[in-house]
Amino acid sequence: MTATIQPHESTPKLIIKGSKHPLKGIVRASGAKNAVLPILAATILCSDIVTLHNVPQLQDVITLTDLLCSLGAKVEINGETVIIDPRGIDNIRASHELVKLMRASILVLGPILARFGKAEVSLPGGCAIGSRPVDQHLKGLEALGASISLENGYVHAYAPQATAKLKGGLVMFDMVTVTGTENIIMAAVLACGVSVIENCAREPEVTDLVKMLVKFGAKIEGIGTEKLTITGVQKLSGGEYQVMPDRIEIGTYLCAAVLTHGDITIENCEPEHQEMLINKLRKTGALINVGKDFIHIVKDSSPILPVNIKTAPYPAFPTDMQAQFMVVNALANGSSTVVETIFENRFMHVEELARMGANIRVEGNTSIIAGVKSLSGAEVSSTDLRASGCLVIAALVAEGTTTIDNIYHLDRGYAKIEAKLSALGADIKRV
Ligand code: UD1
Repeated sequence: MTATIQPHESTPKLIIKGSKHPLKGIVRASGAKNAVLPILAATILCSDIVTLHNVPQLQDVITLTDLLCSLGAKVEINGETVIIDPRGIDNIRASHELVKLMRASILVLGPILARFGKAEVSLPGGCAIGSRPVDQHLKGLEALGASISLENGYVHAYAPQATAKLKGGLVMFDMVTVTGTENIIMAAVLACGVSVIENCAREPEVTDLVKMLVKFGAKIEGIGTEKLTITGVQKLSGGEYQVMPDRIEIGTYLCAAVLTHGDITIENCEPEHQEMLINKLRKTGALINVGKDFIHIVKDSSPILPVNIKTAPYPAFPTDMQAQFMVVNALANGSSTVVETIFENRFMHVEELARMGANIRVEGNTSIIAGVKSLSGAEVSSTDLRASGCLVIAALVAEGTTTIDNIYHLDRGYAKIEAKLSALGADIKRV
């Protein structure tokens, strides 16, 4: 593997000097982390070389490519292009050492099982935003004929012995799960016969995976809906694929524009993925102009208006934007509520924001926010990936200097964040 992606230097802190200056300029969105991870896992299913474009330069991408290499793939990373040769994959065990680094590693379970008829994958770790079980992934694989046991922290999965292949079946998820849906889609594309998957996640990242699989020969109907019908094929080819833009990174920059009363154009967007967020941001008083592949946002000097939000599966408000939007509400002229319905422990940023002067009370899954006039810089700690994004944009407008530690979370999901924010006029550095 030629790893030319360099994650940010492994120094631990970001120092951000807050400012009253608006962020201004053009920023280019990177490819979507949550799309590229399942797409990388899906290369396990391919019988030839896959070239991916618009791959974000992130630690999570390195973790998954390391995992693919540990299975026997060859991976070459050249900036935002990643070339994967899956033909040499012969190891069916995804080790704890790599899986513990990132919860999304569970995405290799479906494809390894589909290709080899057996798989051993460590149970994942990842962001501490709730218990995050994988029961739906396992239940879905069982519906496709897999026998599953849990031994010493590993999932052991076997396809029916006679064929060593999964078989088409009916999968009905009890709740909407993004990586669960992706795992079962990948398992079903090489199964014998037809699979019907109901109550699927409809997140754009799921659709991006499906488009990649279809491009390489999978037969999938119902794309973008909650019911997918998949007819198994003998093999998938390789080829080239362009990963979709990161709607959460884009959303984070849009929130930063509102907070700083800025004027930002974000390029390399697919604005139709952002409809709910854009509607909510318009209610804060921001002017947003949407083109085919860009979003232009301007927030004048009038106060930010408070906006209630409630997270739910796509197309509703994304849980991955909840923490960042809470900062907008924390500095709004009035009160608002933020309701989190996806994860039970996703308000860990509230305490850190409170240390910066925000007035937020948590009751169960609801945060009640009384807008304050200003935040003040403080020493704060990242608790998970999107909480890190929230602290960064809070620091941009806080009075004084903010030091953020544990920023390895940030590096898992925000490509070149210091360079991008500096180019817009922020004072941010890594020490
Ligand atoms: C994905 C995203 C993550 C995002 C989340 C929700 C990736 C790599 N990560 O995570 O950024 O915050 O979707 O949009 O795409 N659940 C179960 N059992 C399961 C699976 C899920 O109970 O087997 C529960 C979870 O605990 C959670 C809810 O279902 O409460 C949704 O989780 P899920 O959509 O699976 O999140 P991830 O796919 O892990």
